[in-house]
Amino acid sequence: MSGHFISFEGIDGCGKTTQRKLTAAWLREKGLQVVETFEPGDTALGAEIRSLLLSGEHIPQPETELLLFLADRTQHVREVIQPALQRGAVVLCDRFSDSTRAYQLAGRALDAQVLEQLLKTAELGVSPALTLWFDLPVSDALIRMRSRVAGGETASRLDEEQQSFHQRVCDAFTAMFEAEPARWRRIDAATDAETVQQQVRDVLKGVFS
Ligand code: TYD
Repeated sequence: MSGHFISFEGIDGCGKTTQRKLTAAWLREKGLQVVETFEPGDTALGAEIRSLLLSGEHIPQPETELLLFLADRTQHVREVIQPALQRGAVVLCDRFSDSTRAYQLAGRALDAQVLEQLLKTAELGVSPALTLWFDLPVSDALIRMRSRVAGGETASRLDEEQQSFHQRVCDAFTAMFEAEPARWRRIDAATDAETVQQQVRDVLKGVFS
């Protein structure tokens, strides 16, 4: 496949969605074909899975939660990511399998071997060449999430997890970054959006010079 697959990862409130949009605009200005996408929910079936997962109307068992995220992923890879990469596009994907590792493996304490096997099945052989990790302390993320809720946004079922859950997720991102430095780049997200975007551009200049 000829495109570039770049994932954006981090805890809730880390600002990766804003950065994905800014990055897409910058790469398009450079004349690149960019596909912006996200998980869960960026296909018709995925949107329904997203609402089952996040609305809080139903509380899934941890294994059910895992399988729903993976069902969304397979649909997403086949309908959106694979075709975009085949066209040679740059795919900027807001969350992918590393979110499952952080939230379901570390957050929910599911079995690592089983999870890796299932991830492999769900990914259909597609995985990011580069992962940007927006590193933000949990305490800062919680402040940002509270202010969003005060501004009228609805918190998802996972946003409302306890601080200890978010800390396990955060620690898992740190561990993945340390374990696989060739793929991961750390972006300091505890600053303003412009400074964060500058760091992203500095990383991507090495890829799209
Ligand atoms: P996201 O869309 O980034 O959150 P928001 O809608 O608040 O911008 O992600 C939705 C939530 O799903 C987020 O709390 C992380 C979680 N998630 C998992 O637990 N496992 C996964 O595999 C994925 C992709 C997301």
